[in-house]
Amino acid sequence: MPVLPATAETVARAAQALSRGECVAFPTETVYGLGANALNAAAVARVFAAKARPRFNPLIVHVPDRAAAEAYAEFDETARRLADAFWPGPLSLVLPKRAGCGIADLVTAGLDTIALRAPNHAVAQALLAEANIPLAAPSANRSGRISPTSAAHVAAELGDSPAMILDGGPCARGIESTVVRVTGDAPVLLRLGAVPREDVEAVLGHALSAAGEDTPIASPGQLERHYAPATPLRLGATSVNADEALLAFGPNAPAGASTTLNLSASGDLAEAATNIFASLRTLDEAGVSAIAVMPIPDHGLGEAINDRLRRAAKSR
Ligand code: TXA
Ligand code: MG
Repeated sequence: MPVLPATAETVARAAQALSRGECVAFPTETVYGLGANALNAAAVARVFAAKARPRFNPLIVHVPDRAAAEAYAEFDETARRLADAFWPGPLSLVLPKRAGCGIADLVTAGLDTIALRAPNHAVAQALLAEANIPLAAPSANRSGRISPTSAAHVAAELGDSPAMILDGGPCARGIESTVVRVTGDAPVLLRLGAVPREDVEAVLGHALSAAGEDTPIASPGQLERHYAPATPLRLGATSVNADEALLAFGPNAPAGASTTLNLSASGDLAEAATNIFASLRTLDEAGVSAIAVMPIPDHGLGEAINDRLRRAAKSR
């Protein structure tokens, strides 16, 4: 399982591996993805196996741009407006899948919709250009676990299963893409993520509707327990016990924890998003009885951070 620095040469080798139906882990601006040729069902099956991911949970297909995406999905005016505003970038659009588009049914879990995004990362874009195939790529972690924001995290999660792990350094955004469904009715927010809800709503000119709690598997990233460390989390902590680690936010972290990491000492939500998964991973290894997490403001990127923390805190 070679972790290789991303260079023109290793990207070319990764593209060849993908064309042969192998899986390759690669960096994006959000988290690392475990990619496979989305046109090849056997290749996609390897991704599900490597992650131990339930097959009813569909994958996001990565493409260079909207022109490429239009081969696989039907874009209405709203979808075009969102793609043009946010691509390349951390917005995934769930759109009606084009009949006969060649995307393996396993990618979309048999749904008549498909999730697409154009990543804003030079290595991901170079890989897409070199391979010249759409890449189905979920986050490169075992199902239900913390998403990886470095090549070392991917190696810790997946061991030998990817043919290659391209190392492009730490992910700049640190939290997954925002997922919005645009299938004719009012656009629906399926997953909070790296594009704040307010930014999508500003482009739309109206509020997004939320997927109802009872929507059957509208987006399984919404599965209750997810992004979970082994150590229990205690959210909204304003004080800390000696046997706890502290995940702090802002300048006023309480003293007394056995270990403290601050998501952003200056209280910057973008910085906190970048650090959230790596911090949870580090504190999970601190051998403490619980991780106390300070309150995070629930606006902008804070909404997505709090979503991940709530899911990580759900008891088994
Ligand atoms: O930032 C990201 O989106 C990362 C990087 C690698 O691009 N990928 C990622 O993939 O987070 P994954 O598989 O961990 O999450 C995909 C999300 C899931 O919540 C899935 O249920 C949803 O997208 N999804 C995919 N296709 C869908 C569809 N047709 N309808 C509804 N939800 C869909
Ligand atoms: Mg994931």
